[in-house]
Amino acid sequence: MALSLGWKVPRNCYGLLQKAARSSGFPVFPWGHCSWTGAGSFLDPEIKVFLEENTEVTSSGSLTPEIQLRLLTPRCKFWWERADLWPHGDPYWAIYWPGGQALSRYLLDNPDVVRGKSVLDLGSGCGATAIAAKMNGASKILANDIDPIAGMAITLNCELNRLNPFPILIKNILSLEQSKWDLVVLGDMFYDENLADSLHQWLKNCCWTFGTRVLIGDPGRPQFSRHSIQHQLHKVVEYSLPEPTRQENNGLTTSTVWDFQP
Ligand SMILES: C[S@@+](CC[C@H](N)C(=O)[O-])C[C@H]1O[C@@H](n2cnc3c(N)ncnc32)[C@H](O)[C@@H]1O
Repeated sequence: MALSLGWKVPRNCYGLLQKAARSSGFPVFPWGHCSWTGAGSFLDPEIKVFLEENTEVTSSGSLTPEIQLRLLTPRCKFWWERADLWPHGDPYWAIYWPGGQALSRYLLDNPDVVRGKSVLDLGSGCGATAIAAKMNGASKILANDIDPIAGMAITLNCELNRLNPFPILIKNILSLEQSKWDLVVLGDMFYDENLADSLHQWLKNCCWTFGTRVLIGDPGRPQFSRHSIQHQLHKVVEYSLPEPTRQENNGLTTSTVWDFQP
């Protein structure tokens, strides 16, 4: 399964993201065991220092200025550095993707969508959408990703926003038995055809078995726009992307929240 980041290469941290684009599959992590734990327990001291030294705390340039995040920005060394010097897997968690931005904006503006609900953020990355759900009163949250460093980034981002930690699951959740969630949110997860097929099947089962509501944030990726899932979507809201996000996303101008109704 090839990663196709051709759709999104921030102009400046080109080297690092080109490395991601060249990789032949999702990163293989030597420590990639199943972890389902409170956010605080992800804080390996060395990784924490690495993240703090190589990211910048920012709340500008996105659709959700009320959320602070540690991200890779032009003021970070590795924005400019040769990609092969990056010592970890591809840093998807270091970018606040347009799909996640739209979802988070929508949750922040519509508290009733999450208040008192159990929410799974599948492919959480930097954790912003889970954080938006937490800020607006979700009763239970799980942030899920396959990247352990994402788990640590989510932990730090929770702290930044003065939130009590919520559980984080580092595992390919698509291979696990499904649980009941009131709401599943997915920001920018449809960037690979095989992954899109797996997600589609998994989400259908989730809706049919548990009556789960599924919201998808996507800025018009081809793997999403051309997928058969399009026949089962209802547009909720479309946002105009802020200029910095446009510049970092090869000219994408909008991002949309979709309600999946199979
Ligand atoms: C493009 S990023 C989007 C991150 C975040 N949702 C956002 O919008 O900012 C995709 C994320 O999905 C994660 N991912 C990919 N496949 C996954 C899977 N099967 N289960 C959980 N996470 C996955 C990646 O590690 C990455 O952090």
